[in-house]
Amino acid sequence: MIARASEESAPVTKLQVVKGSKVYGGVHAIEEVDFDVRGGEIHALLGENGSGKSTLCKAIAGAIELTSGTIRLNDEEVVFRSPADALKRGIAMVYQETSLVPSMTVAQNLELGMEELFTVYRTINIRAQQSQESLNFHVDPLALVENLGTAKRLMVEIARAVRQNAKIIIFDEPTASLTPEEIQHLFHLLNQLRNNNIAVIFISHAIEEALQMADRITVLRDGKRITTTETHKLDRSKIVRLMVGRDIPNHKPSGQAKSSKKKTRKKKILSVENVTMGNIVKNMSFSVYSGEVLGIFGLVGAGRTEIAHIVAGVRKRNLIHGGMIYLNGKPIRYRVPRQAIKDGIVYITEDRKNNGFFETMTADDNIYIGYVASAVGRRVLYSLPQRKRVADHWVKVLGISALKRSLKIIEYSGGNQQKVTVAKSLAQEPSVIFFDEPTRGVDVGAISQIHNSIRDLAAEGKAVVVISSYLPEILTVSDRILVARSGKIVEEINAEEATEEKIMFAAVH
Ligand SMILES: Nc1ncnc2c1ncn2[C@@H]1O[C@H](COP(=O)(O)OP(=O)(O)OP(=O)(O)O)[C@@H](O)[C@H]1O
Ligand SMILES: [Mg+2]
Repeated sequence: MIARASEESAPVTKLQVVKGSKVYGGVHAIEEVDFDVRGGEIHALLGENGSGKSTLCKAIAGAIELTSGTIRLNDEEVVFRSPADALKRGIAMVYQETSLVPSMTVAQNLELGMEELFTVYRTINIRAQQSQESLNFHVDPLALVENLGTAKRLMVEIARAVRQNAKIIIFDEPTASLTPEEIQHLFHLLNQLRNNNIAVIFISHAIEEALQMADRITVLRDGKRITTTETHKLDRSKIVRLMVGRDIPNHKPSGQAKSSKKKTRKKKILSVENVTMGNIVKNMSFSVYSGEVLGIFGLVGAGRTEIAHIVAGVRKRNLIHGGMIYLNGKPIRYRVPRQAIKDGIVYITEDRKNNGFFETMTADDNIYIGYVASAVGRRVLYSLPQRKRVADHWVKVLGISALKRSLKIIEYSGGNQQKVTVAKSLAQEPSVIFFDEPTRGVDVGAISQIHNSIRDLAAEGKAVVVISSYLPEILTVSDRILVARSGKIVEEINAEEATEEKIMFAAVH
């Protein structure tokens, strides 16, 4: 497949990192990494949380500078002082968290960083339309980015990179928040980019995606390159072994759930009755029992996140919206999450950057804040030993790791930020927990750690709801599975009888 690139008359882009190292506070985030990518190739970058994937890519894209080592572009040594610098040389990066400006339109975002004097508003819109059409997108150029879903935002980022003439495009976990259909659309686009001789670097925790899409795969472990190999020479178990340096057993769907399941009738904790809000949530009803994990599957737009937002007070429900929600038989209606937390209900977000944590504080403080927040009405004095005890507990349970524990949370790797978000909410000692896409961006090993903690919460008698678009996840953790479609619960399936086919069938029909 790589050969296709050389058929073009234009010179093929070639980028190399030679012995690239990045040191933070005396510790290597990446160490003497050799890496290369060429036009017409999709190169996947794999590794556990914190192995250095984002760091390597940020260096290539000019977002950070290497401590030592060099970057060579078409055999010439280059030094990028900023992302704008790298972009001038044709390198663009689509970040783990989107870099678009939410309050601007799609068209304005497409032009960001390349505004010319007197660029007329109208031409921007027309150009936006053209560059999107060439990629077969359907995003309204006049829409505000803040009103777009993740998939559309990603499309805009790709359009922007192409519009800026990028020859190398780096994607940091682009598929983490997409539905299966959106992933297929993205893959189609990536193939198009490859056919246009663009070099694509693709970071993902989904090994199957790398196997499906990549021409070559590079695996990092603890900041070092373990291998760069042509994809056809690898398979899933080989990759996992290279990533973690040992074997990890495959997921056993619903095995855990079944073993901890008791036949006794559990206590109904939460019940949602005929809740309606706008045209997103339409007459939704379900109950959650103590000691169970309730999985809610659905495609984007099914109303799953919204109903969780309503229950947990993240989104205010007005009286004009119909329906009732009961907690232990008592009607509830929260205006802010704080009221829900006081009653023991937490919502663990999928959008960690926006509502997950306090960026400039340490992981310990973030977790401790969660603990303190649960003590509404009680007096809690900030206590260092107590902070350490609470934080130590969660760092161990969830396997949170960073070069140094004392780093600001923003300096943690993406997957570890996700774990801190989870820890912060669980430190609140809730009795009803909503997890929204709990393992997005988390590596293979850590996924089972998080699943185990979810099962443990249920075993302790808590009522747990897991919202996920990832079928194996739903099958692994749930005792009972609900399928949501266009704002309604359309199916309830027992874990014993659930199969991927049954669930998917209900979700799309
Ligand atoms: N600005 C920073 N200051 C200090 N340490 C940092 C900084 N940025 C990253 N690190 C550390 O470098 C290591 C590698 O992080 P990186 O973000 O590259 O990991 P990753 O492979 O992308 O992980 P993930 O899969 O979780 O996104 C981590 O231990 C992280 O804490
Ligand atoms: Mg990362």
